[in-house]
This record gives sequence, C-alpha cells and structure tokens, in this order.
Amino acid sequence: MTDTLTLTRPDDWHLHFRDGGMLHETVPATAMTFRRAIVMPNLTPPVVRTADARAYRERILAAVPAGVDFEPLMVLYLTGATTAEDIAEAAASGIVHGCKLYPAGATTNSDSGVRDPSQIMHLYEAMEKYGLPLQVHGEVTESHIDIFDREKLFIDRYLLDIRRRFPALKIIFEHVTTREGVQFVQDHDTLTAATVTPQHLMMNRNDLLAGGIRPHNYCLPVLKRREHQESIQAAVLSGDPRFFLGTDSAPHARNKKEAACGCAGCYSAPAALPLYATFFEEHGKLDKLEGFASHYGPDFYGLPRNADTLTLERSEWTVPQHIEADGTTLVPWQAGVILPWRLAH
Ligand code: DOR
Ligand code: ZN
Repeated sequence: MTDTLTLTRPDDWHLHFRDGGMLHETVPATAMTFRRAIVMPNLTPPVVRTADARAYRERILAAVPAGVDFEPLMVLYLTGATTAEDIAEAAASGIVHGCKLYPAGATTNSDSGVRDPSQIMHLYEAMEKYGLPLQVHGEVTESHIDIFDREKLFIDRYLLDIRRRFPALKIIFEHVTTREGVQFVQDHDTLTAATVTPQHLMMNRNDLLAGGIRPHNYCLPVLKRREHQESIQAAVLSGDPRFFLGTDSAPHARNKKEAACGCAGCYSAPAALPLYATFFEEHGKLDKLEGFASHYGPDFYGLPRNADTLTLERSEWTVPQHIEADGTTLVPWQAGVILPWRLAH
C-alpha cells in the first residue's frame, strides 16, 4: 500500500473566503494545501468592479501566513448593472480570472445577482471577446420550481443557449450536482468544464435528510439523489479533464447552520485534500487524484501548473470538531470523522 503520495501542488477552483477577521482562518486553512484559489465574490456588498477585486485581493494577501506562497484568483460578480467596459477592465487587470453568474436569489448573498440570465448577452459576448471565463451557479430560482429540479431547468432554459451562441466562451458549471449537469459538460467541447465539491462526490440527499436533518451537509445546490451522485463520481473517476477540484468551501457560524432556517455551505477547506484522496482511494483510483486536483484546473484556465509539490501521508487524523474563528465557532465539514490521509509536515 502506498504510504505517501506526492502530487503537483493542487489549486482550489471555487471557494468562499468571506472577509474581515474570518480571512485569518480561511486563507491559512486553504493556503496550507492549495497554491491558488478562485475566490467567489459574494460578499456584502459583492465584488462587482475590478477595483473591488483589487482591494479584496490585498485583504486576502494580508492574511497569508509568512513564508507561504499563495495566489488568490479573483472573480467579478455579474449584476444587471455590469457593463462590457467592466469586463474589458477586468480582463486587462491580470488579477481577475472569471465572472460569476449568480441568478438572483439562488444562494447566499445572491440578491444583487442577475434577474434574467438571458438578458445579459452583451456581457457573455464581452467575456468571450476578452477571454474571461464564465462561472455559473446553474439553478433557476422561482419559488414554485422544485429545488431538486432547478439545475436541470437552468441548463434547458439558459445554459444550452449561452453555450451555442458563444462557442469560444469558457464556461465552468460550478459545483455540478446532477446527471444532467454532468451530461451538459460531456456533450460539449474542451471549453466547457465543471468543478466538483467533496460533498457532492461523497454524499447524496440521504446524508442530509435520512435519520435526522444534518445541517452541516446542507449546501446549495442541494445534495441530490444517489443516481446523480454516481454520475458525478463516474465522470471524475474516468479522469475526464473537464471535471476538476473546486471545494466550494463556505463557512457559516455554527449557530447560523444549526438553526431553524440554516445557512447553506460546507466549510471543507481544513480537510479538503484528505477528503478527496479518501474518495479516490475508496474507488481504487488514487492515480486519478493528481489530474483532478492539480492539472486539469490550470490547463482549463490557461494557467501554468504549479511547479512545486504537496505530499499526503497515510496517517489517520480526525477532522476537528470545531474551529474558533473571528469570534464565532465553525464546524468543519465531516467534523469528527477519521480520515486515512493527512498532509505531511
Ligand atoms: O452552499 C453554498 N454556500 N452554495 C453557494 O452557492 C454559496 C455558498 C455560500 O456563500 O455560503
Ligand atoms: Zn460557491
């Protein structure tokens, strides 16, 4: 049995760092594993202009521990007021690596998002022209649509049309959760990809709802039924480079998750790579971890693969029960679970 596993240093292609004091927890937790991360812009107020992204980037960099090499890859939050000039400026900045489409109301801090994704064709056109990828939260938002059907409907109603009209636009289907989402990526070319979270790989809706509600497994898009989980697993285990690592690590204070109306988001950063390694090993495909975690993401974004490495060692460790941060308590995803892999020191 392999006792250590050395990989090209991985990157996280989708996460939420939050802001302020929380950065002193989230940034080191990610930077101890990943060299780069795509940083989601759903702050209050959101990151809508290049100047906002620049200032947020500086706050993140200030929280990187001394001696650690970490690069935040910034994202603009698309709103009804975003202009083609905003896109051009972002593309020229060198620090913005994509624009996030949040349908308004789809998730945490998405109220300023786009009301009708079919009404911003000029922005997709600008992104295609300037080479800025589109990162999609792919769910419709109408309250009468069943939450388990929202991803499929988004694809049918909006995404197929966007894909067809802008063939040179890079599209990332963020945190894919359904067979239809997987199929959408597989049906298209190498400019279409998806990020995959540990929870959507390792869990299905039974883990959220059977035997009691488990708020720490609640995220959006919500966990789906097992057959959808299996289709995501098969895509990832096949080594298809269009599916790569994006944790969607998203901390919320414990009292906001263990609540009558609990927040969506799993704080997976502290255990992210051991979790993914455990998944690949359980499926006999540990050899596929490096592509997923370290190669396919930079290849898709047109960035160099990292030159350094990271080593995991086979040594049991327990995901912490809780973490104190910014005056609150966080419960990391899979708290208390014993994993067979840990980061080597
Ligand atoms: O579960 C989620 N949490 N999904 C998202 O799309 C947003 C995220 C957050 O910011 O908390
Ligand atoms: Zn997210």
